[in-house]
Amino acid sequence: MEKMSFRKQTVTTMTQTVVARSTEATTSDWKQALPVLTGSMVTLRELRLSDAPSLLAMLSTEEVARFISPPPSTVAGFERFIAWTHRERGAGNYACFAVMPHGMDTAIGIFQVRQLEPGFGTAEWGFAIGSAYWGTGVFMDAARLVIDFAFDVIGTHRLEARAAILNGRGNGALRKIGAMQEGILRRSFLRHGEYLDQALWTILDEDWKAQRVVWGARVH
Ligand SMILES: CC(C)(COP(=O)(O)OP(=O)(O)OC[C@H]1O[C@@H](n2cnc3c(N)ncnc32)[C@H](O)[C@@H]1OP(=O)(O)O)[C@@H](O)C(=O)NCCC(=O)NCCS
Repeated sequence: MEKMSFRKQTVTTMTQTVVARSTEATTSDWKQALPVLTGSMVTLRELRLSDAPSLLAMLSTEEVARFISPPPSTVAGFERFIAWTHRERGAGNYACFAVMPHGMDTAIGIFQVRQLEPGFGTAEWGFAIGSAYWGTGVFMDAARLVIDFAFDVIGTHRLEARAAILNGRGNGALRKIGAMQEGILRRSFLRHGEYLDQALWTILDEDWKAQRVVWGARVH
């Protein structure tokens, strides 16, 4: 998350374009517009420019922004970020969902997925939710939808996340969703003039699908 949030990514290269074309059949729909994903507590949808004020209020607080790349500090800055997410989605590099609890039309957080290699085989995800919604179950509900989307719709094989070691909730959330900690990325994240260590967490598509079968069995 830390490396990806709110930071402009490089433009699509020639190689990426060629590989993207070869996967067009499975990925073209989400590149046109993200689907609406519905969970038990939240709905996820594409960001809208009108989400800018609520995202500013939710994500620019000290406790939310402590361990992530600095979010925009104005409504106009968030509008530019949202327009950028649409361009990057259209290019097939990236997807960003707004999180809305059922019964609300206000975005209270975001989940992002970006490709780490052409064709999205390996990808990185990240997330931030307004602190009023921490510990409510919103994270788990939204995270399952986004991971399903990455593996089932985009066709990702390996989903990575980075969390500063000091970020207790971020690491706790990743452990809880079933990610595996593969290692420590030493001094890999610059925050407030200081390099922080990060944990590298991964989920593989085959592990996720096996885990999903177990959840399904519990439900029925
Ligand atoms: C990351 C985030 C989306 C997770 O959502 P959340 O609602 O806080 O997550 P949850 O409460 O469902 O899960 C966090 C888990 O970490 C645990 N936890 C909290 N503080 C912890 C700490 N200091 N050390 C270890 N675990 C901790 C919680 O107890 C919880 O586990 P439990 O449900 O088994 O008790 C949210 O905290 C957030 O937006 N943080 C700011 C943005 C951010 O840091 N994003 C990057 C993450 S890599």
